[in-house]
Amino acid sequence: MKLAVVGGGSTYTPELIDGIAGRRASLDVDEIVLIDPDAYRVEAVGDFSQRLLNHAGHSARVRTTANLEEGVDGASAVLIQLRVGGQKARASDETFPHLCGCVGQETTGAGGLAKALRTVPVVLDIAERVRKVAGDDTWIVNFTNPVGIVTRALLQEGHRAVGLCNVAINLQRKFAKLLGASTGDVKLVHTGLNHLSWERGVLVDGVDRLPELLAQHAEYLGEEVSVPVDWMQRMQAVPSYYLKYYYSHDAQVAKQQTERPRAEVVSDVEEELLKIYLDPEQVTKPESLEKRGGAYYSEAAVQLVHALTSGGGAEEHVVNVRNNGTFNFLPDDAVIEVSSTVDSAGATPIPQAPVDPRFAGLIAGVTAYEYLALDAAIKGGRDRVADALLAHPLVGQYTKADKLADELVARNRDFLPWA
Ligand code: G6P
Ligand code: MN
Repeated sequence: MKLAVVGGGSTYTPELIDGIAGRRASLDVDEIVLIDPDAYRVEAVGDFSQRLLNHAGHSARVRTTANLEEGVDGASAVLIQLRVGGQKARASDETFPHLCGCVGQETTGAGGLAKALRTVPVVLDIAERVRKVAGDDTWIVNFTNPVGIVTRALLQEGHRAVGLCNVAINLQRKFAKLLGASTGDVKLVHTGLNHLSWERGVLVDGVDRLPELLAQHAEYLGEEVSVPVDWMQRMQAVPSYYLKYYYSHDAQVAKQQTERPRAEVVSDVEEELLKIYLDPEQVTKPESLEKRGGAYYSEAAVQLVHALTSGGGAEEHVVNVRNNGTFNFLPDDAVIEVSSTVDSAGATPIPQAPVDPRFAGLIAGVTAYEYLALDAAIKGGRDRVADALLAHPLVGQYTKADKLADELVARNRDFLPWA
């Protein structure tokens, strides 16, 4: 099977390759094409990726190219993992919301909107070109943030796409460790949207072990996801760590004002990683990759690609998928992040217990924002940007929505086809 990675020059790519190398039995890949406009980076990452595979005794060949059409031709799955504007644009997303006392984050709030506006047109163009060359059968696995909005854009245009994030698999691994179970035996009742989710159940052999986890390990889990222990125990759910931007918004803003933006920290890590990749003696995944938030995304990716392409039985994975009635308070075409069954026909949400108002309110509010954000990304226009901001629970006031909309457009003009 051939796998293509758009944005293959990312310093994250060796994480993915390491996952492929370690799961030879489950994923039959013989060719991996890394597609990236940055020749220097993709060469460095490509050469290192080949060394990783060789060292692991894997026979797959890695190729690099700047030509999308050539790269995706014949691929069974195309992974899209790009960052329009690089870390520089991310640094802007992480700081301009501070002008209005709002949190600066690359996927949440006003920063996430800026990223969506830059990214949706680029990903849609790529997907259209993939469809022309590789055909309707090719799966698109979307890692590109904001994953919920970008996946919704892809599905709306009829692409065969599934959105993926590593938040769920990381929690699944942590729960498994605490319970002394193997990761594959732990099933999550994962509820919400991308980067706005709660684990409402942790099933092992059909038994919900979440009450036990919250009774015995609340201290540790609370620290991992930045939620006070008593709140988590009362919720009887484990929120993703992205919920801290809502539940302790003001504290996060104060913290951000004294810290370096994450984009700057990541730029340093990337420089360090590239140096390591360029060392011909280096043949294993470097430890510094653990400093990135995307740790273990390879595991989720390899499992998902296997489920989509192997033609085997249905597997359970947490993915971004059309709501289709799963949450009765959302439209069918909203994209939600839930545990789903996945096979070569695609992903289908597993029905779950009704969602109570403590979670449903935020989910519905952010879904409405995501609808408006996508509308702004596709049609353009400063007022649509302001409308999306007004609807966002973390902005929500005229003065802030106006100021942040103007600032966002001014800073991102080079990336907005309509501005
Ligand atoms: C997590 C999120 C990703 C995000 C990443 C950021 O993995 O699920 O969506 O891209 O963190 O990590 P970074 O190291 O770039 O801050
Ligand atoms: Mn994510």
